[in-house]
Amino acid sequence: MRLVRWTPDDLVRRLDDVVAVYGEAMNYRADLLEARRGYIATHVRRPGFRAVASLTTEGHLAGFGYGYQGASGQWWHDQVHRALAPQARQRWLTDCFEVVELHVRPPAQGHRVGTRQLTALLTLAEGSTTLLSTPEADERTSRAWRLYRRFGFVDVLRHFRFPGDERPFGVLGRDLPLTAPAAPGPATP
Ligand SMILES: CC(C)(COP(=O)(O)OP(=O)(O)OC[C@H]1O[C@@H](n2cnc3c(N)ncnc32)[C@H](O)[C@@H]1OP(=O)(O)O)[C@@H](O)C(=O)NCCC(=O)NCCS
Repeated sequence: MRLVRWTPDDLVRRLDDVVAVYGEAMNYRADLLEARRGYIATHVRRPGFRAVASLTTEGHLAGFGYGYQGASGQWWHDQVHRALAPQARQRWLTDCFEVVELHVRPPAQGHRVGTRQLTALLTLAEGSTTLLSTPEADERTSRAWRLYRRFGFVDVLRHFRFPGDERPFGVLGRDLPLTAPAAPGPATP
């Protein structure tokens, strides 16, 4: 598996693969994925955009992650801004790199691909904090939650409802830069 940095154009060129990996990883319906495709194409043009991809030796996309600098007027940023108290807004949103997507195809999951993608993405990121949201799940058994906790992400909001999505989300954050690399335990199959 090869981990590479992607430019915005690299991601747009592989948009079909990106959407397919996203759909497989999140188990989303086709209509939701079509809407997502449109968002992703606009996300790549946002300031501070950074992306990484994991490619198999044959060049197939096994996973990807991307983020950008959060700013007012962006939907996700505005939802979180509204939900936070002034001090927390100041703390988390002033100079924040948002991890927007981080996914690995199910057959490749559990082999540290996500760990490597997140390490690379946060190393490339500009900003003094980073935030992300992830569906609420059992922190002991969810790969995503285990991953984020190991990277030192702390609770910013819990059981948060984004408009149009019935699932509750955790909004998690940590400071940047990523100094001490997160020490991984053994990969579980
Ligand atoms: C979340 C995700 C990106 C993590 O990538 P990954 O390559 O599977 O994860 P890693 O192998 O780096 O391991 C992450 C954690 O999951 C744990 N894990 C591995 N296999 C597991 C399993 N079968 N059950 C539970 N946890 C497992 C790892 O041990 C590790 O936790 P640890 O650091 O406490 O040991 C990936 O699993 C994924 O795409 N999941 C579906 C989509 C998703 O949830 N994306 C994030 C939404 S914001």
